[in-house]
Amino acid sequence: RACNNESRGALIVLEGLDRCGKTSQSSRLVSYLEGLGHSTELWRFPDRTTSVGQMISAYLLNQSELDDRTIHLLFSANRWEKRSMMETKLKAGTTLIVDRYSYSGVAFSSAKGVDLEWCKAPEIGLLAPDLVLYLDMPPELLKGGYGDERYERLEFQKKVAQCYKILRDPSWKMVDACQPIEDVQKQLQKIVLDNVLACRNGKPLSLLWS
Ligand code: TMP
Repeated sequence: RACNNESRGALIVLEGLDRCGKTSQSSRLVSYLEGLGHSTELWRFPDRTTSVGQMISAYLLNQSELDDRTIHLLFSANRWEKRSMMETKLKAGTTLIVDRYSYSGVAFSSAKGVDLEWCKAPEIGLLAPDLVLYLDMPPELLKGGYGDERYERLEFQKKVAQCYKILRDPSWKMVDACQPIEDVQKQLQKIVLDNVLACRNGKPLSLLWS
């Protein structure tokens, strides 16, 4: 067995309000790490390609109505259906840059008034990220106004920001997303690279919610 088999990839999650720049920063991070020779993949939740993901997508596009707890559990199921593939990839040494994860799940549902602890429960046992990067931007400054999806309204985003604040723990890296894209990316790159190297050096995988 080669020594390399011992080193795993990092599970790195980007969180933040809608339209704060997560998606473009995530794909830049993947290019950056690949350029350094690290096996890396871009993932996102919701993953709209699965059958659960298609139900979620219809809900977000206002093409279907679902009870708040029902849609919450579908978002969670969408993470559970990817869990074993996630573990396989990480153990094979691939770093995953993940655009949204369980924190979005809890922040968006609890912003609707669903109990926070109830929201966390179905996430217990999913893989815990090695790193959570929070792209911080005041709701009023979110890029390009809002689109047509269900949650893209200023008043609701303000509530989501409050819920993220409750969830935040000291290990999260807060990055000021109001800076120019390149400056945000530079900061993210340094944090991410340190984390990828720590995971290669044998940091064990852990589980939510701890
Ligand atoms: P997206 O724009 O990143 O594809 O996310 C779609 C919306 O779904 C966004 O408003 C955040 C919301 N969301 C949840 O409500 N719960 C979740 O678990 C996830 C991953 C996203």
